[in-house]
Amino acid sequence: MKPRLVPLPGYVEYLPDDMLTRGSEFADEMQRRRTVRDFSDRPVPRAVIEECLRAAGSAPSGANQQPWQFVAVSDVAVKQRVRVAAEAEEREFYEHRAPPAWLEVLQPLGTDANKPFLEIAPWLIAVFIRRFERLADGSKRKHYYTDESVGLATGLLLAAIHHAGLVSLTHTPSPMKFLNEILGRPKDLERPFLLLVVGYPAADARVPDIRRKPLAEIADFV
Ligand SMILES: Cc1cc2nc3c(=O)[nH]c(=O)nc-3n(C[C@H](O)[C@H](O)[C@H](O)COP(=O)(O)O)c2cc1C
Repeated sequence: MKPRLVPLPGYVEYLPDDMLTRGSEFADEMQRRRTVRDFSDRPVPRAVIEECLRAAGSAPSGANQQPWQFVAVSDVAVKQRVRVAAEAEEREFYEHRAPPAWLEVLQPLGTDANKPFLEIAPWLIAVFIRRFERLADGSKRKHYYTDESVGLATGLLLAAIHHAGLVSLTHTPSPMKFLNEILGRPKDLERPFLLLVVGYPAADARVPDIRRKPLAEIADFV
């Protein structure tokens, strides 16, 4: 069957100078993004989160299967359950599971098993990889390139959150299966990918003094 094709919607071309300015301004804006671990409890309107998720949902995906599912949590009791479960996994990690080499690279970040931000921040966004679709006859259909697709969607989500003037923490308590249970997501279809903490930074928020690799180190032109 021939695919139905439509004109490219909404494409805008810029003059070369404008292109460079826009590219440079966007890069500067993205460079100002930092992972924040000290959050304010100031509320953030749900509509802002919805717009950020709409941006995330615009990501390209393998075979256009859009294998992402986002659960945005502002409910105090649910956030508390997430914190309790995450801290239990993190205690195991820091005290038993983490190999010394892993603890060594985490050391400059100053992280530990305590995750008060999971309750303090106004929003948690759990990102799930939807690995299968449930068909009408009850069978499952596999999705392709799910990790790549959800990684791209999450990148857009982070950029949108930052662009909106909020901050985020990418949190990966391991394992994260408790998110399926607490958030009622089907274990046979979806796997937790990341837990994002979203809100305003605390007035006295501090971040690790780390450096980003310069362009010459991360890119080759041939
Ligand atoms: C896949 C992934 C997992 C991460 N997991 C955690 C985490 O569990 N806890 C945490 O405090 N930071 C976590 N981070 C944040 C990183 O430590 C942070 O991005 C890195 O130190 C660079 O800092 P920046 O985001 O401010 O540039 C994670 C980041 C990524 C991309």
